[in-house]
Amino acid sequence: MKAPVRDASDPAAIEEAAALLRAGRLVAFPTETVYGLGAHALDGEAVARIFAAKGRPASNPVIVHVADVDGARALAGQWPPVAGALAERFWPGPLTLVVPKAAAVPDGVTAGGPTVGLRVPAHPAALTLLRAAGVPVAAPSANRSMEVSPTTARHVADSLGDAVDLILDGGPTRVGLESTVLDVTVSPPRILRPGMVTQGLLRQAGVDVATGPASGGAARSPGLMLRHYAPRVPVVLIDASGLLGTLRAADGVLFLDPQAGDGQAAARAIVMPSDAAGYAARLYAALRELDEAGVRRIVVEVPPRDGDWIAIHDRLRRAATRDEDTQERNGA
Ligand code: TXA
Ligand code: MG
Repeated sequence: MKAPVRDASDPAAIEEAAALLRAGRLVAFPTETVYGLGAHALDGEAVARIFAAKGRPASNPVIVHVADVDGARALAGQWPPVAGALAERFWPGPLTLVVPKAAAVPDGVTAGGPTVGLRVPAHPAALTLLRAAGVPVAAPSANRSMEVSPTTARHVADSLGDAVDLILDGGPTRVGLESTVLDVTVSPPRILRPGMVTQGLLRQAGVDVATGPASGGAARSPGLMLRHYAPRVPVVLIDASGLLGTLRAADGVLFLDPQAGDGQAAARAIVMPSDAAGYAARLYAALRELDEAGVRRIVVEVPPRDGDWIAIHDRLRRAATRDEDTQERNGA
């Protein structure tokens, strides 16, 4: 049975969603990054339903969403000063802080590990829902494992419509890429997953961070596994200069620069926003559009690799990784 889709700005829908969460059911809801698949974070059986619905390996921990800093501190075994400073600066917002977990956090949330990822989302419906529920909400992206994360309620319905109890529709998400995951249990803090809260923004906030895998770090954030966020059809990244000679009739293409070609060589062409924030907001929906259009492969004009583009480049690289390149399989 397909889950009902309700308007997230309807107070009755929020009340219904909050009651479902408290009762251990699954509710998909909008955040500013991507849609989340939510469950009562302190209810181990509810959390297990998330993993079953997504087909997610139990080894991959989920982020817990809370309404405010006090809610986060209640789930943390320790609250390092740097967590306080970053929460003050970036919450509500697309930054997940990995801190030592409190005893109350079930093992299913943390994949049995000693830390928990926490964030206060910057979406009015998400915050209203969290306050109405009165419980912390564990929520990975509301897609089946290995699929591109959902940025609209329709994406959620297409992927998980028969596995959730309710979908709240809050329109297309504003940020479009998953939150930055920052481990503040190490010094300096380490970015486990790049997002739109960039290294530069963290530095401006006075926090120097490390990037890239720590030694023995592959397992620290399973979301860093290479193939991830991928459409069904192959994705290839090509520089603007090589683009036109490469396009074939059955390709779909994401252009960055409309001057790079008129797209006539391809079956479907989408011109992407030229600023990083706009590109990020559009990326997952664009990949899904080309995937659904039945193109044979998706050719992406490679965007810049630095600064505000790092998270975008990260997701494109993962989308472009073929299965046979993949050392480790997992999903989120
Ligand atoms: O923007 C987001 O973060 C979205 C929205 C719904 O909030 N959520 C999301 O969740 O992307 P998910 O489960 O798809 O990705 C969570 C990432 C994974 O890479 C996971 O491995 C990592 O965060 N993570 C969660 N808890 C962790 C922990 N305790 N230690 C290390 N990594 C953790
Ligand atoms: Mg995910």
